Amino acid sequence: MTEPFDHSAEAIADQPATRPVDLAPGAAGLDPAGLGRQGPLDPVADWDQTWSGVATGPLRAGERVSLIAPKGRRHSIKLTPGAVFHSTWGGVEHDQLIGLMDGQVVTSAAGVAFLALRPLLEEYTVSMKRGAAVIYPKDASYILMFTDIFPGARVLEAGAGSGALSLSLLRAIGPTGRLYSYERRADFAQVASQNVVNFFGAEHPAWRLRVGDLVETIGPEPVDRAILDMLAPWECVDSVHQRLTPGGLLCCYVATCTQMGRVMDTIRTHGGWTEPRAVELNVREWHAEGLAIRPGHAGRGHTGFIVSTRRLGDGVQAPLKRRRPAPGAYGSDYDGPRPRGVEGPTD
Ligand SMILES: C[S@@+](CC[C@H](N)C(=O)[O-])C[C@H]1O[C@@H](n2cnc3c(N)ncnc32)[C@H](O)[C@@H]1O
Repeated sequence: MTEPFDHSAEAIADQPATRPVDLAPGAAGLDPAGLGRQGPLDPVADWDQTWSGVATGPLRAGERVSLIAPKGRRHSIKLTPGAVFHSTWGGVEHDQLIGLMDGQVVTSAAGVAFLALRPLLEEYTVSMKRGAAVIYPKDASYILMFTDIFPGARVLEAGAGSGALSLSLLRAIGPTGRLYSYERRADFAQVASQNVVNFFGAEHPAWRLRVGDLVETIGPEPVDRAILDMLAPWECVDSVHQRLTPGGLLCCYVATCTQMGRVMDTIRTHGGWTEPRAVELNVREWHAEGLAIRPGHAGRGHTGFIVSTRRLGDGVQAPLKRRRPAPGAYGSDYDGPRPRGVEGPTD
């Protein structure tokens, strides 16, 4: 059973939404690319103080680079002095790449041109090691906007899975935010942790990864936003309500229609939330070359449904809906949670 959190103005007066972190020279983790810089931070040269995971300047040993072959196939390599990338198009020496700027062309021993580019977060997310299935970039980008993730936000996430969404959240909240990620499988938490460290180059100062079931191990911290990507998010709706600040947002990412219905009815039945909204995103890529303009062949099937709602103030119940549910929506065959006002079968 989760202990209720006191959201009164007095109780949280000393817990501002954004907290400064130690950005002093030499603070833990302020050299994520392992470049060994010393001395005070320079706002331009020290790109990594923003913890974006984006490197600039010449390609360095230890960095990952995408080598793009003539037919468009991407190969991710970690730049290592003296190493050679071998392919059917001939070998490419890593030393040819180290010191080059982003976006250059290198030629293999067989005379084939490869384009070298630093990988983007989106590419990294879909190609990194996986434990659990990840939230794809098309859904993650929508979640960031519609869950209103902001720099300095305190965000709760469960489960962490492979850490794909954690990466986008950490980049959006930055070093002054807090991301509390819960994952009940230790092996998946390990994968998530490694993926996040590999991307940012070090442990992100805003991240708290906790191994355990969310309901059983939820911490005492109040949060501004919460995202649940798990099999049974309805089991966590009340616990998250206890920690979420009034007006804060909850987003549930679910794969199936039955999960979507169950979590939306649980939110309505709880009463302390606004009417939930559900969307599914369909993105279609296009091919445009001369007169050949048509939808691309690469189809993306169904990924998931995104359900979102906002927490009401303490003790406030959502006003009863004026519109009656569709006939049979909560009929005698329905055995899920019943929202207030529809306590009995409607057929
Ligand atoms: C689909 S994965 C999450 C993927 C993650 N969002 C990503 O983008 O990489 C769902 C994860 O939730 C975890 N999980 C399920 N129920 C949980 C709970 N009650 N508390 C903590 N973790 C849970 C599972 O172990 C699984 O790793």
